Amino acid sequence: MKDAAPASIHLKDYTPFPYLIDEVALTFRLDPSHTRVQSRIRFRPNPEAAPGDFFLHGEGLTLLEARIDGTPVQPDITEAGLTCDVPDAPFTFEAEVEIDPAANTALEGLYMSNGMYCTQCEAEGFRKITYYPDRPDVMAPFSVRIEGDMPVMLSNGNPGAHGAGFAEWHDPWPKPAYLFALVAGDLVSHRGEFTTRAGRHVDLNVWVRPGDEGKCPFAMEALIKSMKWDEEVYGREYDLDVFNIVAVDDFNMGAMENKGLNIFNSAAVLASPETATDANFERIEAIIAHEYFHNWTGNRITCRDWFQLCLKEGLTVFRDSQFTADMRSGAVKRIQDVIALRARQFREDAGPLAHPVRPESFVEINNFYTATVYEKGAELIGMLKTLVGDEAYYKALDLYFTRHDGDAATIEDWLEVFEDVTGRDLAQFKRWYQEAGTPRLRVEEAYDETEGRFTLTFEQHTPPTPGQETKTPRVIPVAVGLLGPNGDEVRKTVICEVTEPRQSFTFEGLSARPVPSILRGFSAPVILDRETSNAERAFLMAHDTDPFNRWEAGRALARDGLLATIRSGAAPDRAYLDAVGALLRDDGLDPAFRALALGLPSQDELAQSLHEAGDTPDPQAIWTALEGLRDARAAHLEADARRLHAEFRVDAPYRPDAEQSGARALANAALGMITRLDRGMAAQAQFDGATNMTQQLAALSCLLDADAGDAALSAFYDQWQADRLVIDKWFMLQIVHARPDRAADTAARLTGHPDFDMKNPNRFRATLGALAMNPAGFHHASGKGYELLADWLVRLDPVNPQTTARMCSAFETWRRYDSDRQALISAQLDRILATDGLSRDTTEMVSRIRGS
Ligand code: TRP
Ligand code: ZN
Repeated sequence: MKDAAPASIHLKDYTPFPYLIDEVALTFRLDPSHTRVQSRIRFRPNPEAAPGDFFLHGEGLTLLEARIDGTPVQPDITEAGLTCDVPDAPFTFEAEVEIDPAANTALEGLYMSNGMYCTQCEAEGFRKITYYPDRPDVMAPFSVRIEGDMPVMLSNGNPGAHGAGFAEWHDPWPKPAYLFALVAGDLVSHRGEFTTRAGRHVDLNVWVRPGDEGKCPFAMEALIKSMKWDEEVYGREYDLDVFNIVAVDDFNMGAMENKGLNIFNSAAVLASPETATDANFERIEAIIAHEYFHNWTGNRITCRDWFQLCLKEGLTVFRDSQFTADMRSGAVKRIQDVIALRARQFREDAGPLAHPVRPESFVEINNFYTATVYEKGAELIGMLKTLVGDEAYYKALDLYFTRHDGDAATIEDWLEVFEDVTGRDLAQFKRWYQEAGTPRLRVEEAYDETEGRFTLTFEQHTPPTPGQETKTPRVIPVAVGLLGPNGDEVRKTVICEVTEPRQSFTFEGLSARPVPSILRGFSAPVILDRETSNAERAFLMAHDTDPFNRWEAGRALARDGLLATIRSGAAPDRAYLDAVGALLRDDGLDPAFRALALGLPSQDELAQSLHEAGDTPDPQAIWTALEGLRDARAAHLEADARRLHAEFRVDAPYRPDAEQSGARALANAALGMITRLDRGMAAQAQFDGATNMTQQLAALSCLLDADAGDAALSAFYDQWQADRLVIDKWFMLQIVHARPDRAADTAARLTGHPDFDMKNPNRFRATLGALAMNPAGFHHASGKGYELLADWLVRLDPVNPQTTARMCSAFETWRRYDSDRQALISAQLDRILATDGLSRDTTEMVSRIRGS
């Protein structure tokens, strides 16, 4: 028998904790399987809360002793925590517990990774370290003493006394327990320094295992740039004497913003030209910035409860996107962000896991660190900025920082600063936080020749999502510009604020019918439905002054052609081939932009489009159509491809900056075309002579696509077998680039490779996650892909529920497919759900995906 369904927690049930904490002192006596944690916590009744039980969270702890004001007590203990009688006045609670970091494979709480101790407490991991009110609205200053035989022992805040076998830390900034961190190990630091605008000297360190020192300088530079940028753009300064970053090999996500002690998945911090690609460098720069920016948006101002997660995550993603746009190219960053938004968030919004940016209930909060909370959350900030204008935006942010510094805040608090600064009523805007689903925006146009008047009429509609049958109209800022027949811009960008279900906007004084450029810069996260001709798309591709829409026109042209091929076997679209060729030959265009213009809609995006149009996607047909278009394009643009490959593969010493990486992206896209014509000769030459990972990996991918990669694959393994992060790439690449009928077998074979390690999330994702990244392979009619993934999810669940639950989303699109595939998938979902002792995390995910 299965246990009853785990209980949901609701936003509407929020009540403040009945006690406040003035001070927390923790002592850790480190030992791999018998770590002792002593806590001494000064509580007092919370004058603003109704009186209530003294309940402290605690899971998997062995309580050795508890005292109140020095007197031993015997609390009531359950699986969730302890309750105990306390005085109706300030008191000190002390406890000593024992925990077993070496046995902690869930990577939540205090655990060991490669002989080093580290912690992960967000969202609710601190309760696995000691008894505590583990909720973000309880904030306190922490003092930490670590005793152990590790050469480096770190915690939050500023360093205090330290000597042989101990180190003390004090964090003066009150913080919630989820920002607590401890690291101890044999680590070396790559040092740096920064002086804040106010003159505070800050010691910076990137801590890594000996041998990895050479892979730190880039992260350090990114940190320094982030610190400077946040001062210049948001006026935010750092507030401690040290800032530490630690790289950890076993980590569930990208990185964590613990106060003064950010902990990173080593994949999100370590980089050298030989081992990391340009894309890796760019991602590292963004994640370093993201975690650093949390110091203000997340740490100084935190969340009242986990329903407000987007308050810190949406805003911090928005800030890190702005940073990347400033460091690199704004246009390129926007296009990349929209590609990712559509691939991950639109997919989520269209399926059984759809939820509002601010959810109203959850079973396991770890399941809500989603594309909706993060990426759509960031889009909402961008829309708000568009609606109020830049000046008011930064004024509102200043007010937010002054008014709420030290607070655990809500979305209501956030919107209120904007209302106070602008006098604008944001009630309708708030629906973006409350209602799930991607609005569809239909647009019609009319031109009155005699009046010279052009009219755009918008109609918005949001389809139902699980638990939300009806939707209300949103406020949608639609950026519009108009182009004249000769390609000149006859109206600069204006914002049409759509607030009604149906609404028109007119443009007067035109001398000819214009071509509209709608939703410039992707000014709102909506699906734009617009009937238009290939000729007009090609025109926008050639002339639009908005780089996003210029790219978008090409994307739509490619997509429509592919859909025609999939539906009716139409030949590759000539209009697209000519237009993309013209773009490629335009040497005035940024090479990075041209590389993006060569990108095609992903298999998943095409499946989504077919599903939205009421068709049943056939994964194999989608794959075949993409292959056909790639072949046709290579044949059509051969001369261009050869020229671009020769011209843009950079021979200068490697730099990971926007300029060089844009050039390499274009050269490698060209190599992809050439490989379709020469069966891998050029790719093999590039592989053999590669001096950096970007060149090497691109060449290997091409060889695998051409089915000519066996020799290169084993050479690559021999060269890199000692480097975990590079071997992750080796695992992933051969699965992602496997032919559809071989993908599941390749993944299955690699799970038997001596280097496969299910306990390491990066390696697990590089293998089973990679299978889901090969849609035609994963959805192969044999059902082998589904079965393999389900087998491994069932095995991983008792080891690491968080990573298991996240990876269940590979199945979230199952309702799109034909009945045979649906039957195969639902059988696997049922099998997972029937597993004895399945975690709450995975139970929630699979039940939501499965639906009732
Ligand atoms: N707050 C982290 C971030 O966005 C992400 C995070 C949440 C996380 N839970 C985690 C990271 C668990 C690692 C493990 O930057
Ligand atoms: Zn974050």
